[in-house]
Amino acid sequence: MAANKKNIAKKTADILMTVLLLCLMAYQVTGEALHEWFGVGMTVLLIVHHILNIRWYGSLFRGRYTTFRVITTAVNTLLLASIALTAVCGMAMSAHAVPFMYGILPAAFARRFHLAMSYWSFILMGVHLGLHVPVMAAGMRLGEKARTAAAAVSAVISGVGLWLFVGSGIPGYIFFKVPFAFFDYDKPAVLVFAENLAMLIAFAFIGSSLASLSGQGGRDGKRKEKHFVTAVLLLAAALICAVLLLLPGSGGESEPWAAPSPASSQSGGGTGTATGNTASSDYGGKDYSAGSDGFVLIPGGSFMMGSPDIVELTPVIPYSDDYSTVLMEAQEDQHVQARPELNEHIDDMDSCDKILLGYPNWWASIPMPIATFLESCDFSGKTIIPFCSHGGGRFGQSLTAISKLAPDAVIGEGLSVHYSGGSTLAEDVAEWLDENGVARG
Ligand SMILES: Cc1cc2nc3c(=O)[nH]c(=O)nc-3n(C[C@H](O)[C@H](O)[C@H](O)COP(=O)(O)O)c2cc1C
Repeated sequence: MAANKKNIAKKTADILMTVLLLCLMAYQVTGEALHEWFGVGMTVLLIVHHILNIRWYGSLFRGRYTTFRVITTAVNTLLLASIALTAVCGMAMSAHAVPFMYGILPAAFARRFHLAMSYWSFILMGVHLGLHVPVMAAGMRLGEKARTAAAAVSAVISGVGLWLFVGSGIPGYIFFKVPFAFFDYDKPAVLVFAENLAMLIAFAFIGSSLASLSGQGGRDGKRKEKHFVTAVLLLAAALICAVLLLLPGSGGESEPWAAPSPASSQSGGGTGTATGNTASSDYGGKDYSAGSDGFVLIPGGSFMMGSPDIVELTPVIPYSDDYSTVLMEAQEDQHVQARPELNEHIDDMDSCDKILLGYPNWWASIPMPIATFLESCDFSGKTIIPFCSHGGGRFGQSLTAISKLAPDAVIGEGLSVHYSGGSTLAEDVAEWLDENGVARG
């Protein structure tokens, strides 16, 4: 391939990879199927990128290693490893693009590694891009003022990007502390992309600062001055990030969901509820159910129905008592769209018009016993009012799942509760019931 054509092909692949990366990181916008196909696209582009840059491998063991070369080689190698791991683990969970690869790795391992490695890839991709910036900027021959302005703007965006990075709990993902990614599905797509871009710029800024500090892109006489400016800009970005983190109500204070709530000691074990939040008596019972409104509470497989009577439903084969095992069992159930058989059956649905349907968010959707329940009843003329406890992912895609499984029902205004709800739970529930016109006893 002529050198010029090869360069164009390399640049096109690089741009496509960056765009795809931003699409991949916007899972809450694209949804699962598209995310998987983008992942396949990324894997193909990665292979193309390496074929186009094959000479890099040959040069690895030749020549002197300067500081910059050590940094570049380390970043490139780690990036290659992290993208490859992300891809393999992603394929091991695939339900759409490459379903035949499903299960090639244990589910819990694949989930955690996919999450951690995808964010490591994101970070390293940013740094990798940034490492090229000083040389590109030198080629652009910008004036001193334009350079300073561009550097200042990047420092501000990077400060915000780092703040977003910490605030959205990503450190928990990259250090394997959190098994799920928690996305705000209500966030407008533009904002999701803008935030991800700001984070990518932050890591590119770190990369370009590393390159400048190791002497890239500067004329000899200007080096000292350049290092000083880089150090000041890095400090500015860190300062903006720190100030934003310290602001009251900043995202940085949010807890990762993984730590089971205190209620976990009273785990419902066999029912499938992991921590007892969905079944919390604060909003699960008599105080709020009344009149002819049916009340169904399903903590991951058990539910209560009827006012004031309570029927508890349990899956015939209970979920494990062990938290990590439940994670795997539930994921497998979801993957195969299982319909776990329930011990009890609701025959008398006629007496209620409104059904309050409670469940924990499991893998960003409903637990599969809820699917069994929804498919086993006739909901025509009924209103299902969903409420769900979650660890940060709110409803996930559970509302869509409910409306698909009970197409004849009207879906009322839902309530999502973080773990067991916190101090405002009673008010939130009261407001939600009023909104849905449910009488309170
Ligand atoms: C199998 C399983 C999967 C989960 N998946 C998610 C999830 O995708 N998103 C989320 O926000 N929380 C998730 N969680 C956390 C639960 O939604 C949260 O802990 C909830 O409060 C549990 O309610 P429970 O105490 O009634 O089980 C999951 C928990 C389990 C056990």
